[in-house]
Amino acid sequence: MTTYIGTPTSRVDGRAKVTGAAKYAGEFNTTGLAHASLVTSTIAKGRVVRIDASEALSVAGVIEVLTHQNRPPMASADSAYKDDVAPEGSPFRPLYDNRIWFNGQPIALVVAEESEIARFAASLIRVKYDKEDHVTDVYRQRDAAFALKAPANPAENPFAPPKPRGTAEQAFAAAEARHRGEYYVPIEHHNPMELYASTVIFEAGGKLTIYDKTQGVQNVQRYVCSVLDMEPGDVRVMSPFVGGGFGSGLRPQFQVVLAALAARALQRSVRLVLTRQQMYVLGYRPAMIQQIELGANAGGTLDAITHEATTVTSQYEDFHQQETGWSGLLYKCATAKHTHKLARLDLATPCDMRAPSAATAVYALECAMDELAVALKLDPIELRLRCYSDRDQHTDRPYSSKSLRDCYRQGAEAFGWTKRNPEPRSMRDGTELVGWGMATGVWEALQVPIAVRIVLTANGHAEVSCATSDIGTGTYTIMAQVAADMLGLPLDSVTIKLGDSTLPQSPVEGGSWIAASVSNGIATTSDAVREEVLRLAKQMPNSPLADTTPDEVALADGKLVSKQDASRAVSIADAMRHGGVDRIEQEKTTTFTDDGSHAHNTHSAIFAEVKVDEQLGVIRVTRVVSAVAAGRILNTKTARSQIIGGVVWGIGMALHEETLVDHNFGRIMNANIAEYHVPVNADVHDIEVIFVDESDDIVNPLGIKGLGEIGIVGVAAAIANAIHHATGKRVRDLPITLDKLQR
Ligand code: MOS
Repeated sequence: MTTYIGTPTSRVDGRAKVTGAAKYAGEFNTTGLAHASLVTSTIAKGRVVRIDASEALSVAGVIEVLTHQNRPPMASADSAYKDDVAPEGSPFRPLYDNRIWFNGQPIALVVAEESEIARFAASLIRVKYDKEDHVTDVYRQRDAAFALKAPANPAENPFAPPKPRGTAEQAFAAAEARHRGEYYVPIEHHNPMELYASTVIFEAGGKLTIYDKTQGVQNVQRYVCSVLDMEPGDVRVMSPFVGGGFGSGLRPQFQVVLAALAARALQRSVRLVLTRQQMYVLGYRPAMIQQIELGANAGGTLDAITHEATTVTSQYEDFHQQETGWSGLLYKCATAKHTHKLARLDLATPCDMRAPSAATAVYALECAMDELAVALKLDPIELRLRCYSDRDQHTDRPYSSKSLRDCYRQGAEAFGWTKRNPEPRSMRDGTELVGWGMATGVWEALQVPIAVRIVLTANGHAEVSCATSDIGTGTYTIMAQVAADMLGLPLDSVTIKLGDSTLPQSPVEGGSWIAASVSNGIATTSDAVREEVLRLAKQMPNSPLADTTPDEVALADGKLVSKQDASRAVSIADAMRHGGVDRIEQEKTTTFTDDGSHAHNTHSAIFAEVKVDEQLGVIRVTRVVSAVAAGRILNTKTARSQIIGGVVWGIGMALHEETLVDHNFGRIMNANIAEYHVPVNADVHDIEVIFVDESDDIVNPLGIKGLGEIGIVGVAAAIANAIHHATGKRVRDLPITLDKLQR
């Protein structure tokens, strides 16, 4: 039964969102709510010597000023501050002691009767520092960066660089065609529309109900309990709606623990909303310097790939993903060498940001492939087809599905690629140079253990619940679609509950893994519901389903029906009435066993057209076609929105986005959306999304791969390659701004 799965279903929460009925973390209210405002450090490294809060405390309406000196007790062990996705190291602790790790670090919290009072009073806090020298420039720390080791067993650390394959350096030296390039991606920020906020409701007996902006309510619940030494039953975390996360809400952010600290100190409900500027220290995409070498023979097959990356981390945690591994994975090549170094800076720890590692690493790889194609005088698609790999190159195993060839073909056809003149600067439109470029995208198809509860009532309504989040991707909607199909109900007879730590277990929403995980989870629990309906139906006198097994029946239109003979059916209401129950409740955990025999990835081919004003250097991305292979598409409408969003972000990555640090002060200079440029409507023109058919009965029973992240991967490279085609100029450090084009 697939009435809803695969259809362009509008968001079931759309009306609530556009009418304002959907409430976000900073919008929940209670009587007696106090409001908090942060004071942040103005130095990047050192110690707080003294905090003078006297002037702030004298403002009418100010209740308290919390600092490391007067806060309630917090845990002392590092382990208490580790969350589900914490990297190696010693997590940051807000208001813990007088150490300053980064500029913009929270050092005091002003709590007042009104948010305006709190914010004003925060400006009156005087701080004396003992300042130390800091480093925030990755190029200055490059030589001091330390290399990550490849573990003997990759399972020990999936984020370590893969082991070398063959002798890539020798193969590169001997190759007939060689390309070597250094590429740079600056620090970038997530900038979700919703500000980070936590509203902590202080309940009788000291229990806390916390409305938090997060991608994982149970992750936050465990964190708050361990940091504040509270019992799980005394902390409930809710996040019914999230205004964008993109990875910035995977880890519990400091506003939640600060708001909870204040609520406990004052025995009162407290809200803390961060300013946009304050959000720039919550985490960021680490800057990445990367060198790639590609060695090929004249026929256009690869002999050698070396990829060396230096990424940024803080002084207290080792954040990284397996950035260089993508190069060795994607194309057929006998040798590959991966080196990954971390440069410690006096900045906050970076964090995952949409397609972490792939967005940055594949940018470099796909620009390098374009440069190699130019050197070989080969069409860039043709080069990729000659290097096409049907097997995961790291582990030499097949993919559960890989329809990348179809992505190249369908994307090229929709774009009109055959009309491309390969010569740079050969295509024009009036005063503008026209360029066409392409790139490949790749991401993982991950899945995680998850629990789903379904309550089916005799009136034909189902409530489906799981502690997962919907970070704006459309999780409410796909959950409703899958449940409606599995239970044979109309879509509006299904209610979805999520974003509540008291619901059945779910990991954070991230890694593009929730759609596949929760959908298969709903299928598992639906099977159990169907079995229970069948058990009741069989007990009825002269039951038409007396000798049927669960596999032989389906739920449809409020009935349990034999698949062989539709006339043999029992209504769910009758089965429940006869059994003396008015509801069937089932909760099951679904795990995904992977025998390791297949690799699971999503792929894409991106085609971009740019028009560059020859005199001024103004770049416009006039057309993008993204052809995506991501298994079964649950909802072609929300899926398309995900890919369009990824492409828009790719335009920003290519042309606009760059977090600028004043290295004298170690402080982010453009911590606002006026000066941190993202694409606006005028920057975005035609975007066409193609979903390539890809059936996959190996990855999971429903054949779902997830597509929250694949949309951004490769886009910046396609645009950079188009700019080279238009202008003959190769800019390797992002963003590609006018000045770099004119240099
Ligand atoms: Mo995603 S960067 O795992 O939210």
